[in-house]
Amino acid sequence: MGYVRVYFRWFRQPQFVAGILTLCLCIAGLGPLLRTWDRPQSIALPRSKVKGAAALVVPDCAVTPCLALSFDDGPHGDVTPRILDILSREQVRATFFLVGERIAGREPIVRRMHGEGHEIGNHSWNHADFSKLSPADIEMQLRLSQQAIARAGVPAPRLFRPPYGATNPMVVSHINLPIVRWNIDPEDWRHKDPVSIQQNILAQARPGGVILLHDTDPATADALQSSLSLLRPHYQFVTVSQLLELVPGDQGQYLGR
Ligand code: NI
Repeated sequence: MGYVRVYFRWFRQPQFVAGILTLCLCIAGLGPLLRTWDRPQSIALPRSKVKGAAALVVPDCAVTPCLALSFDDGPHGDVTPRILDILSREQVRATFFLVGERIAGREPIVRRMHGEGHEIGNHSWNHADFSKLSPADIEMQLRLSQQAIARAGVPAPRLFRPPYGATNPMVVSHINLPIVRWNIDPEDWRHKDPVSIQQNILAQARPGGVILLHDTDPATADALQSSLSLLRPHYQFVTVSQLLELVPGDQGQYLGR
């Protein structure tokens, strides 16, 4: 009994009660902390492509369908800045597949693309048809364009789009970047008419789409503002790399027609 009395006297000590309370608070605090370690990490987007506040937001294509706008064959001295202005106004990020030999003298435009959160891809050195080139020429086309883009002061591209979408097994085996084509073609290069281009964009837009446009003709820039205004309530625009990462399915290495 003496033992029990001593035990209970000690139990009533304020220091003991305070110690127990502190221990309980520690356990309660550690629980949520430990649980966060098990949470899946958010999808890692290419940091260089996502700037400022947008870096904190991972688009959820299941909630709002995703579309990727892509512009080929630039940079163009007049049309590309116009398109960048529209994208900036609409807060839309796109992907530009650049032709290496067209960069000289337009490096600030390339830096602006990158600085405004757009993705930059390789579209060859001089828009050659790769299916007609030797392996050595294919590698040279890729390398020269990568170098020209990097010399402009932006990260070297991580995507390649073949001119004319032309590939064959030999071409594919000599390209060491993911090859991305498109699955929506409004044929802006053929129509060169803003009304037709806009109608084609709106008629073909669909979730998971990669839209092929060209930042080389004013008609494309003319069609872009109204097209974006009409599409924006229904879609969120992501870069091609983001789309490949976020939307499973046929957005694999190849985006066939
Ligand atoms: Ni092209």
